[in-house]
Amino acid sequence: MDNIKKKILVMSGKGGVGKTTIAVNLAYALSEKGFKVGLLDVDVHGPNAPKMLKLDDKELETQDNKMIPIKYNDNLKVMSMAFLLKKQNAGIWRGPMKHNIIKQFLDDVEWGELDYIVVDLPPGTGDEPLSIAQLLKDITGTVIVSTPQEVSLLDGIKSIDFSKKLKIPIIGLVENMSGEIFGEGGVEETAKKQKIAFIGRIKLDAEIRKSGDSGNPHEIKKLFNPIADKIEKICEVK
Ligand SMILES: Nc1ncnc2c1ncn2[C@@H]1O[C@H](COP(=O)(O)OP(=O)(O)OP(=O)(O)O)[C@@H](O)[C@H]1O
Ligand SMILES: [Mg+2]
Repeated sequence: MDNIKKKILVMSGKGGVGKTTIAVNLAYALSEKGFKVGLLDVDVHGPNAPKMLKLDDKELETQDNKMIPIKYNDNLKVMSMAFLLKKQNAGIWRGPMKHNIIKQFLDDVEWGELDYIVVDLPPGTGDEPLSIAQLLKDITGTVIVSTPQEVSLLDGIKSIDFSKKLKIPIIGLVENMSGEIFGEGGVEETAKKQKIAFIGRIKLDAEIRKSGDSGNPHEIKKLFNPIADKIEKICEVK
């Protein structure tokens, strides 16, 4: 972990708001800019990140007792519970077991030298975010994803509180799925009120869902480049 320059956690208070979509497309965009990137899927119960990169059929190999993350391209490597579990099997673990799994993902994976590690978290402020916060030293910051509706914003504020209580810097808020259906602007307003950076807005767009389902991030790359640029800039000074 000492060979990783920037460590970014993607989190949200509410489920299904697009954390994995943001984490995968951010990691991909950074890798396309020439950075060495690791994508760590810490959602051990619902590990979706590999599917969004069409890597879900891959199996892990080990070398010298270390797991070798799956390569997406020359610059992007991925580690996920999905590589260890059969697709239809549920992982049934309590907190301490998940803590050990996450510890192995950090200590026993041959990450090599990385410019960024992007961590995709499950929703909420429970076991996995706590374990990561304890195990990953010198976290650069959290990217908090919310949709514009009140219920999502309310839960998003809990992620802000989590970051503050654990003294993890907040990189900023992303508004996802904005548009006519869920509304627009609520996340930027919350960012202003909370004096946190607003990173950007991603529209509710069928192309994004299709790209996620088919595992083709290059199809929607241009939508995520501004977010990656902004995060890169904020990380430079953190
Ligand atoms: N901006 C968007 N426009 C259209 N569909 C989107 C958008 N963002 C995410 N989706 C779709 O919404 C679904 C949920 O997204 P995703 O899995 O990224 O959410 P999540 O927050 O990671 O969920 P979970 O809390 O279960 O981890 C996926 O099918 C994804 O393709
Ligand atoms: Mg997810």
